[in-house]
Amino acid sequence: MVSHARDLFTKSFGSDPQSVSRAPGRVEVLGNHTDYNEGYVLSCSIDRAVFAAASRSSDEDGFGFVSSQFPEVVRVGDPARKSEQKWIAYPLGVYAVLKQGGYPVGPFRLAVHGDIPIGGGLSSSAALEVSTALCLGDLFGFEIEPVDMAKICQRAENEFVGANCGLLDQFSSLLAEKNRLLFIDFRSLSYRTIPLPADNICVAVTMSGVTHTLAESAYNDRRRECAAAADYFASVNPNVKTLRDVTMDMIVAHQDRLEPDTLKRARHVVGENERVLSGIGHLEQGALREFGRILYRSHESSRLNFENSCDELDTLVGIARTVEGVYGSRLTGGGFGGATLAILDIAAKERFEKTIIAEYKKATGRDTVVHFASVAEGAGMVNEA
Ligand code: GLA
Repeated sequence: MVSHARDLFTKSFGSDPQSVSRAPGRVEVLGNHTDYNEGYVLSCSIDRAVFAAASRSSDEDGFGFVSSQFPEVVRVGDPARKSEQKWIAYPLGVYAVLKQGGYPVGPFRLAVHGDIPIGGGLSSSAALEVSTALCLGDLFGFEIEPVDMAKICQRAENEFVGANCGLLDQFSSLLAEKNRLLFIDFRSLSYRTIPLPADNICVAVTMSGVTHTLAESAYNDRRRECAAAADYFASVNPNVKTLRDVTMDMIVAHQDRLEPDTLKRARHVVGENERVLSGIGHLEQGALREFGRILYRSHESSRLNFENSCDELDTLVGIARTVEGVYGSRLTGGGFGGATLAILDIAAKERFEKTIIAEYKKATGRDTVVHFASVAEGAGMVNEA
């Protein structure tokens, strides 16, 4: 994988790269739409990644970009100019945010290769940003703490790509650890890792094949609705800053005074925070079945309260429930299409894949792909560069 990025660089730019980095994709295990509400998330990084190979360039030569998925070499003299190639906005966005922040960055050439399915809910875009940021730090000789680097990459996505994501994806790619789940508190941005309770379990990510064109605006709508719910609670309780400060008791006490949709969004986020905390308790006791039940409950809340599921995702979760050896399943990431996650016994892999593919086709007429992932280490430089 790394050699592909390196070879692509050499072939495209005629010299060997000076830096090579790797940034993995992530799976949101539990804690849906909680990151931008200063809540809790349990995530992990997976053994699918973006590799970036890069070198410094001169002002005359300018910027150069190539990817194995978009093999045309794009040369950009002026990084402020928008390119036809949309993927370039990610690395250029990272460069621009670094430059604005006073980091000594200059023109560079970049070749990327990866195996994270694009648009599959596994955060290929965050991995592209993070792998670029790591290379730029290495090439131009500066260091950035991982949490700050995650924020820089998020800003690149918010301001240059125009996707209003939270911090979860970049944070997970940078800070996750092998065979451990990452528990993040998005208020303090503190985190700790929790060992997987068994070594015979794996994560399956199943693609619904649905990409709603409205997913991005629906995501932004939800962000607004969550902010509106927080504003309401802040108006009745000065201790409330965000939905993180709201409890289920408060929701019940105020249910008649809130718009039905606002109430449901708040219920989801507050419930997700509770589910993450109790899920961790179960994991630490090795209680996988109980943990799995929480995943199903999370999906139900997405379906009924946050309304970010769709028939296809519900169907996938419904099929997963019928497969022996599956502990739990839910939609993962933004929703409105995208992918589901399941936690299952490694021994059930084949049965799971066969059943999901056949039953999903029967129910929806659609094909699906299941990606089994093991929990891999977070992002970093690849040393043999
Ligand atoms: C997307 C965003 C994340 C997070 C999830 C929902 O993946 O990029 O920041 O908000 O949706 O939990």
